[in-house]
Amino acid sequence: MSSGIKDAQKHTEQLLKKIKDGKLSTSEIDSLRDVLRFHEHRYYIQNDPLISDFEYDTLFKGLEALEKEAPDLVTPDSPTQRVAKGLTKDFPAAPHLVPMLSLDNSYDSEDLLDFDRKARELTGLSEIEYCVEPKFDGASISLIYENDRLARGATRGDGVRGDDITPNIKQIRTIPLSARFSAYGLQTVEIRGEVLINKNNFKKFNEALAEQGLAPLANPRNAAAGTLRIKDPVEVGRRKLEAFVYHVSYYLTDDGLQMTDDSKDVEEAHTPSSVTRHLPSSLTTHSGTLDMLWDLGFRSPANEKKVFRGIQAVIDYCNEFEKERDELPYEIDGMVIKVNDFTLQDKMGMTSHHPRWAMAYKFKARQATSKLLRVEYQIGRTGNIGPVAKIEPVHIGGVTVSSISLFNEDVIREKDIRIGDTVLVERAGDVIPYIVKPLTELRTGNEQPIKFPTHCPSCGDELYRSPEEVAWRCVNASCPAQVLERLMHFASKDAMDIRGLGEANIEKFYTLGLLRSIPQIYQLDFEAIGKLEGFGPKSIGNLQLAISNSKKQPLHRLLFALGIRFVGETMAKTIANAVGHLLDLREFDEERLQTLEDVGPKVAGSVVQFFRNEDNVKMLTELEDLGLQLKNEKKEVASGGNLDGQTFLFTGTLHKLKRSEAEERVEKAGGKILSGVSSKLDYLIVGEDAGSKLEKAKKIATIRILSEDQFLQMLEPA
Ligand code: IVH
Repeated sequence: MSSGIKDAQKHTEQLLKKIKDGKLSTSEIDSLRDVLRFHEHRYYIQNDPLISDFEYDTLFKGLEALEKEAPDLVTPDSPTQRVAKGLTKDFPAAPHLVPMLSLDNSYDSEDLLDFDRKARELTGLSEIEYCVEPKFDGASISLIYENDRLARGATRGDGVRGDDITPNIKQIRTIPLSARFSAYGLQTVEIRGEVLINKNNFKKFNEALAEQGLAPLANPRNAAAGTLRIKDPVEVGRRKLEAFVYHVSYYLTDDGLQMTDDSKDVEEAHTPSSVTRHLPSSLTTHSGTLDMLWDLGFRSPANEKKVFRGIQAVIDYCNEFEKERDELPYEIDGMVIKVNDFTLQDKMGMTSHHPRWAMAYKFKARQATSKLLRVEYQIGRTGNIGPVAKIEPVHIGGVTVSSISLFNEDVIREKDIRIGDTVLVERAGDVIPYIVKPLTELRTGNEQPIKFPTHCPSCGDELYRSPEEVAWRCVNASCPAQVLERLMHFASKDAMDIRGLGEANIEKFYTLGLLRSIPQIYQLDFEAIGKLEGFGPKSIGNLQLAISNSKKQPLHRLLFALGIRFVGETMAKTIANAVGHLLDLREFDEERLQTLEDVGPKVAGSVVQFFRNEDNVKMLTELEDLGLQLKNEKKEVASGGNLDGQTFLFTGTLHKLKRSEAEERVEKAGGKILSGVSSKLDYLIVGEDAGSKLEKAKKIATIRILSEDQFLQMLEPA
């Protein structure tokens, strides 16, 4: 089998080169089709592609060009004549009312200019109106509503028939179980959309997997697609999927008018004028459809979409949107440009593969292949040994990646990663880069298994692994690497935020014996530091100020800074809120800790262990003597309010409250004020003359935008 794969890879490379050099000839047509079928199988059925989307498209377009040159050579089973087959047998089959086509892909502005030129040719117009919206990177679905009720939800499958996954679809909160299509005179409607898992939930999901010692999922798309196929709707519900809808593919009106089923018959579909649609007045443009879906209670890209005349503005919007890609709460892999007017769409028609009136504009790739050179082992602040893959530096989505965490030994074993392997690397959004898998087909036989160390690379002590854990640990508490990590964590931005006490300086002070424990941060010998190279009066002054300011940090930051296992920022807030003084935690047993929100046995056990350790208590007393804040000054506020944990931002002029008053009230009710619009924001409160923040917030579908009155109502519900 693997030699078959190698052959296919070799052919792929040869064909790609010929296409690039413009040397492809019709004698290669069969070989090109075979190669395309091979990659379609890898992609659709094995879910394990060997080439990038771009390379696939290049091959596909190469074949299209050959067939255009020699129409006689077109065979009914050519990849250009059908959508790839691939169906899972476990779910009932769900024939689509209209085949689910794909989109044609473009990668740069040249491609879009080309698309526009063809669109103008086909319509005979000199300028076209386009609707542009995000291309959601998830799993596509089809929904059928009959008499206002959700009747069926299905996967794409092979495009003609998918899997009926209605019970799972019903778990998705953003898909209404009923919608008043009848108000638009519509009786039966088939809708297309994309199921996603947002980045935050994806992260949580992967963290949960990691806690159980399981390998994390590759990316949000795989997580969404995989979840849709779970045979346990309750579990599906727990994973908090979301859906965007963006297309009505079929409808039947109350008075029997039907959208012409134009793509069942491929031959017909090639003749643009064969299609006539009878549209209810509100359904004449794509942007109108998105608005209708939004009004009916769906999540459509109604706020993200924009309508432009002419292609240049479209290109600008795509580039602008790409810059904000990382700020969105969900993954997008490009934009979709659609001719806005349905009459023009019908005039342009479709191929058997994609509509001619739409084009996907793909953002820069976030996957690449590279070679695994070696594995290094980092020691965490709790002594956990983290394997890190060093790869040949590779550019992915605008950054160079050369180091990638391999998480733990099990991940290495499960993925069977070896030194010398060619590995597929992905970097998606704010998800850290990771190795998707080794390309085992490309092995030469010289790859070496990874040998996990038996002794700590820093202090040489023997490593341990408890049966219920995935990590190997160095249990020597004074292991230099661990002490350094603890110091770095303590001073870091999200913890005590001591600027000037970064990695390099901590290492320098440690080596010179000036800094060996956390309390020593507050007793640094600045005279000695002043004699070091690179430390002038100004930098020393800044460092002193930062250290002294850190003494005033709120209690939850200090608790987080201590680096207690399983106590992250949120957990530290919950726990700090429950005490009047940090050392009160000495009196807490596991049971009492577990009465706090989200505190489970793991966290509780770890906190109890920390506060029962005399050395830790001594250190905290010392810190208090040195002037740090161990009392909880905010205990009386910020918990149990009706805005608990929600985030807010105000923009524009408020009329009933002063800005500072409004912010205070949010905090009193347990809410938090953010400084800018990002996916972390829950509510934007809009006053008069709101500006760019409002524009930005509109692009993030999870942000709720409220007026001042709505906000006041929220504070004091009637
Ligand atoms: S329109 C005939 N719009 O991308 C209508 N598709 O790579 C064709 N996709 O199969 C689809 N976001 O699953 C459309 N805003 C969007 C989309 C979108 C994501 C998916 C869809 C399609 C795939 C093609």
